[in-house]
Amino acid sequence: MKILGIETSCDETGVAIYDSENGLLAHALHSQVATHAKFGGVVPELASRDHVRKLLPLTQHVIQTANLSPNDIDAIAYTAGPGLIGALLVGATFAKALGFAWQKPTLAIHHMEAHLLAPFLEGEAPEFPFLALLVSGGHTLLVQVEAIGKYKLLGESIDDAAGEAFDKTAKLLGLPYPGGPMLSALAEKGDPKKFYFTRPMINRPGLDFSFSGLKTAVVNTINNTVETRFIASHKIDDQTRADIARAFQDAVVDTLALKCRRALRQTNLKHLIVAGGVGANIALREKLKSMAEDEGANVRYPRLEFCTDNGAMIAYTGYRRFAQGERDLDDIVRVFPRWEIGIIN
Ligand code: KG4
Ligand code: ZN
Repeated sequence: MKILGIETSCDETGVAIYDSENGLLAHALHSQVATHAKFGGVVPELASRDHVRKLLPLTQHVIQTANLSPNDIDAIAYTAGPGLIGALLVGATFAKALGFAWQKPTLAIHHMEAHLLAPFLEGEAPEFPFLALLVSGGHTLLVQVEAIGKYKLLGESIDDAAGEAFDKTAKLLGLPYPGGPMLSALAEKGDPKKFYFTRPMINRPGLDFSFSGLKTAVVNTINNTVETRFIASHKIDDQTRADIARAFQDAVVDTLALKCRRALRQTNLKHLIVAGGVGANIALREKLKSMAEDEGANVRYPRLEFCTDNGAMIAYTGYRRFAQGERDLDDIVRVFPRWEIGIIN
C-alpha cells in the first residue's frame, strides 16, 4: 500500500510517499522561514499562499523521485488539524482534489498523532504501550499510548507550549524567528551558574505544564541585568544573552524531564517516545536519555528532520489508519484548527 502524505498545518509544506512494503519512498519539504522571518513570526495568510505555490511541484517531485505514477498511489492522507485554518484548508482542498482526479480515497490526519508516530519511521519500531512527550510550537502533551488510536491525555500545558516559550524568549533576547533552534545554539555558550529560573509547577502534583511564567522571569532578569541606559535600546551583551538562554533552556528541559519521570512512575510504562519540534533540542534529548536510564526505561526519537513538521509522518499515519480500513466518507473539505488529541480515539 502506497500513501501520499500532505502536511500544511503551519509554516512548512511537506509531501511524502510511504510504502507499507518498502518504507519511506520519498519526501520533500519546503520551509517558509524566509517568508516569515522579516515579520518576526508566522503570518497566516502568507503561509496559506505559499502552500498553494508549493504543493503541486513538491507532489510532482516525490512521485518522480519514487519512480511512480499517480496510479500507483493507493490513498492520500492530509493534515486536517490542529493548525492554522487557512493553511489546513489549502492542504485539505489539494488532497481532496487529487483524490477526486485520481479516483483515490482520502483521509484526514491529526497532526499531533502524526508527530507521535514519527519514531515509527526509524528502523526499530517502538513497542506499545508507551509514554509520549509531544513538544511542538503549539502543544505540550504527555500521552499514554496503548495502540494506534488509543490515546489517553495525561498532562498538557495550561498556557504557552514549550516551543512557543522558546520562540517568545528568543524574541526577548533579540534572536530572529524561528527562535527555538537559535536560542538553543546560544545556550551552548552560556554559563549554567549565572542565572537560575524556578522550574514551573514541579511542586504541584499532576502532569500539567506552565511555561508562560518563565518568559516573565526572563523579562525581569533582562531588566535587572541590563544597565538602565541600555534598556531603551535593548542592548544586552552577548555573554549575558547566552547565560540567560542557558538558564531558560535548563529550566524547560528540567521541567519536561521531571514530568516525564513522574508519568513513567505513575503509569509503570518503560518506553518513552519524544516528538515534535522541541524534540530536536539536544539538551532535552540528553537529559531525557539519562532520566530514562535512571528509571529503567528507554527513550526513542524520530531523526532530527522528522521532529519538526514534515510530510513523512502524515504519510505514515495515513498508512496505519488506511490499513485499519479508515477513510473520509465524503468529498466535503473539513478542517479542525483546534482538534483535541483525546477526540481521535
Ligand atoms: O513540531 P513543529 O515543527 O511545529 C508545530 O507543530 O508547532 O515545532 C516547532 C517548534 C518551534 O517552536 C521551534 O522553535 C521549536 O519547535 N524547535 C526547537 C528546536 N527546533 C525546533 N526548540 C528548541 N530547540 C530546538 N533545537
Ligand atoms: Zn508540528
